[in-house]
Amino acid sequence: MGIIEGHLEIDPPGGVPVWDVDPYDPEILVDPDSYYAELRAKGPFVYIPKYSILACGRHEETQEVFSDHERFVSSRGVGLQDFHLQKPWRPQSLVVEADPPYHSKTRKILMRALSPKATGALKERFQDAADRLIDTLLERGSFEAVAELAEAFPTSVFPAAVGLKKSNKRALIDYGAMVFNGLGPDNELRQKSMAMGPDIVPWIAEQCQRKNTKTDGFAATIFEAVDAGEITEEEGEMLVRSLLSAGVDTTVTGIGSALWCLASFPEQFEKLKEDPKLIRPAFEEVLRFTSPVHSFCRTANKDTSVAGVEIVKGTKILCVLGAANSDEQKWPNASKFDVSRKPMGHLAMGSGIHTCVGQTLARAEVGAVLTSIVKKVGQITLTGEAKWRPNNAIHALDKLPVAFKK
Ligand code: HEM
Repeated sequence: MGIIEGHLEIDPPGGVPVWDVDPYDPEILVDPDSYYAELRAKGPFVYIPKYSILACGRHEETQEVFSDHERFVSSRGVGLQDFHLQKPWRPQSLVVEADPPYHSKTRKILMRALSPKATGALKERFQDAADRLIDTLLERGSFEAVAELAEAFPTSVFPAAVGLKKSNKRALIDYGAMVFNGLGPDNELRQKSMAMGPDIVPWIAEQCQRKNTKTDGFAATIFEAVDAGEITEEEGEMLVRSLLSAGVDTTVTGIGSALWCLASFPEQFEKLKEDPKLIRPAFEEVLRFTSPVHSFCRTANKDTSVAGVEIVKGTKILCVLGAANSDEQKWPNASKFDVSRKPMGHLAMGSGIHTCVGQTLARAEVGAVLTSIVKKVGQITLTGEAKWRPNNAIHALDKLPVAFKK
């Protein structure tokens, strides 16, 4: 057997439908719903010959594969490349691309840095920043919400929360897009992102150094772990890099998608205005409904089986979180955006030991923006077509023209 897209080429397991689809086709990436539905309808797994991978999209099996870190490891890469066979384009992440026992050590440090106490302390700062931004946008009336709200908010509060001395909005956003496009095949999206590497990667690496971080952010807690002898200086810098890789694009996407949901379903916005206690579950529903991280991979580290399907060691499995989050078997009326749904068990923040370590922070950031919108904005209207931006792992808006009225 050979290597394809950096991983082991496999034969289709018996009984698994062969589906000649390209999950990384830009048309699917911008409008994935019918692909999600067909993937689920075909069975618990499909074999995709173009990349010689298995893909799953039903909630049950997707959760099983995504959260069973013993059989389906992350250390061999959470994209198509298998790090046992090919060198990753950047030094591999010490958290999301690591397995226990090492992962337990690095994860513990990030959990300390991003603890509810540390994030809770930022609540007021986030709310003030969100209130100021929403006031400005209300005065403007019409605006392009991806650049002026979704990107503007996290890039105004997140670098300071990490403790970066310098910020560069474009570099942070483009680096995020690069990391996520890097998880796909060697297609045009990945190539274009990688071409930005020489400009961005050295800048990011420099900001992760202790001398470029302040003593009062998440980075400071990470460097305290270095001083306590838990990890080396280099590992500390790599953990700061994890925050910059995973903490910007995802939150930008979450805010853009939340606004798109409220603009597209005005009756749900009304519900939120009537009962602001629904803000928190509403964001969970945004996550379920739009799945900012649409798919991530795992690699089988032993011969095993799931749902009766034999899976050989080395198989790459594309876990399509967006399909699992819209599975009717799990979510009745899945295609309805319902702010009162309280969608426990969605996979948008992952599942198992790798569950998003920044989720409290993400909820605090998006919560501040939603609180401000619900408090101040009377009406949100789409003033043009919302456009989605293809990315190999993220389902994000590219353009969202809207108008706010008091
Ligand atoms: C709406 C916003 C966010 C979404 C949808 C999201 C989604 C996810 C998902 C799906 C995973 C699981 C990956 C896997 O199992 O392979 C994950 C892990 C992770 N996230 Fe987030 N994330 C968000 C915000 C953030 C923020 C703000 C940060 C940092 C400040 C962050 C840092 C991380 C890290 C470091 C991991 C790896 C955790 C581990 O492997 O133990 N994320 N995220």
